[in-house]
Amino acid sequence: MKKTMTTTAGNPISDNQNSITAGERGPVLMQDYQLIEKLAHQNRERIPERVVHANGSAAYGKLVITEDISKYTKAKVLQKSEETKLLLRFSTVAGERGAADAERDVRGFALKFYTKEGNWDLVGNNTPVFFIRDAYKFPDFIHTQKRHPQTNLRSNTAAWDFWSLSPESLHQVTILMSNRGLPKSYRHINGYGSHTYSLINEKNERFWVKFHFKTMQGIETITDKQAEEIVGKDRESNQRDLFENIEQGNYPKWSFEIQIMTEEEALACSFNPFDLTKVWPHSDYPMIKVGELTLNENPKNYFNEVEQASFSPSNIVPGIGFSPDKMLQARIFSYPDAHRYRVGTHYEMLPVNRPIVDVKTYHADGAMNYEQKDITDAYYEPNSFDGPVEDKAFEEPALKIENAYAKRYDHREGNDDFSQPRALFNLMSENEKEQLFGNIARAMDGVPLEIINRQLELFAKIDEAYKMGVKKALGI
Ligand code: NDP
Ligand code: HEM
Repeated sequence: MKKTMTTTAGNPISDNQNSITAGERGPVLMQDYQLIEKLAHQNRERIPERVVHANGSAAYGKLVITEDISKYTKAKVLQKSEETKLLLRFSTVAGERGAADAERDVRGFALKFYTKEGNWDLVGNNTPVFFIRDAYKFPDFIHTQKRHPQTNLRSNTAAWDFWSLSPESLHQVTILMSNRGLPKSYRHINGYGSHTYSLINEKNERFWVKFHFKTMQGIETITDKQAEEIVGKDRESNQRDLFENIEQGNYPKWSFEIQIMTEEEALACSFNPFDLTKVWPHSDYPMIKVGELTLNENPKNYFNEVEQASFSPSNIVPGIGFSPDKMLQARIFSYPDAHRYRVGTHYEMLPVNRPIVDVKTYHADGAMNYEQKDITDAYYEPNSFDGPVEDKAFEEPALKIENAYAKRYDHREGNDDFSQPRALFNLMSENEKEQLFGNIARAMDGVPLEIINRQLELFAKIDEAYKMGVKKALGI
């Protein structure tokens, strides 16, 4: 026999086809609570979409550590042979939820590792750098990527106006406009933690680290023209590709690698190693193999496990720490703030966000709090009733910051915004350069000449050939 349907209060429902009306033709009676409940619930089916990275796809998987890097970190999740369950959410940045997948944009690469020491979230992108180096500029930058307040259209003018006035964006703009700005699928991108983080070992020594996930499917990209054709037929091309490949058992994999810089090396480094617009050159800071990441399970419910998934760079575990990177510092605040607004105060109680370890906090109450804590009389701290306490064993090594003056330092002053994009430009083949020029010219459609010329002068500072190539592609 089939199970009987109920209201959310568990009361059996006798009819789910016909509302209660006074007479066959209506009107409808107020007492039809099942009708009211159904309509009221539907009105609450959506939560605010993410303010950025709204359109995305995710899958569960595992991280397996194959190498011994214990001299750098004591983090359990990074010890040899450790296997950790994870959720990886890919996304585009600018498009709203439901936007087409095959758009030229940076791809998000957000990881949540459910470790034995609580959640470690590494919320990165498919690029090792970013458009800005000071979070103060993030809302302005994102406004240029979203819609114009009057036309409700995306604006090439706003994007290039901001970029041409922000030379620190050149590195990321060059990556975005290169063939890698339009990946074939989420399976064909690298992931980068992007920021510099710390690793801390058993002796409480700190090393600076960059995290890399290199696709084992190989980098594959599509052209603007191919993207147009794909979007015309399939707006969810990347969601489909990821879901179907995992359903078919064709599990995508990434090689997990790190770069290490000692604290002494950081002091002597010719550039600021905490500047998010810079990479650490491989020749100076070689890649070190750590392990392998595999995606092997699709979420059962997209809303519960992907839309409500809440990633935050603030989630770190003992043995992994932050760095002075100004962007990272701001993100530590911004994400949990976004989650409390977007999902709710107790977003971390949801199964997808919940760590596998017990949570022992003194936070109390709040909307939708359902947890029954066994704290009894110990509902504040310090207390005499055996409540959980701090443990100094987890204290990080002190970060030396001496003789510092607090002020708004000009991050553009004396900063070399050109050498690293030049290194990238130089490693592109002639064919890749032609694609770069064409992609930029198309992305500049409708932009006033004054803004184009300002941007061309920035390209010239990377290489005169860069400027001339774009100029030619623009036909000016
Ligand atoms: P290397 O020659 O050692 O490395 C070049 C890197 O560039 C490779 O990782 C390659 O990725 C990647 N790459 C190639 N084409 C593109 C592209 N269109 N967009 C983004 N990345 C690309 O040189 P360096 O380490 O000295 O770096 C030179 C430049 O390479 C940097 O200025 C930066 O722009 C770029 N880069 C550097 C990275 C780093 O961590 N050092 C990481 C990624 C890019 P792959 O091996 O997967 O093909
Ligand atoms: C999402 C803020 C820079 C990667 C978000 C969200 C906010 C945000 C508020 C939405 C979170 C949510 O509602 O769940 C910021 C701020 C930044 C910044 C203030 C700069 C200071 C970056 C950088 C990266 C990045 C540098 C990558 C290196 C992502 C990703 C997501 C995201 C991948 C989507 C996470 C997911 O899949 O749920 N960001 N961001 N962001 N951001 Fe950032």
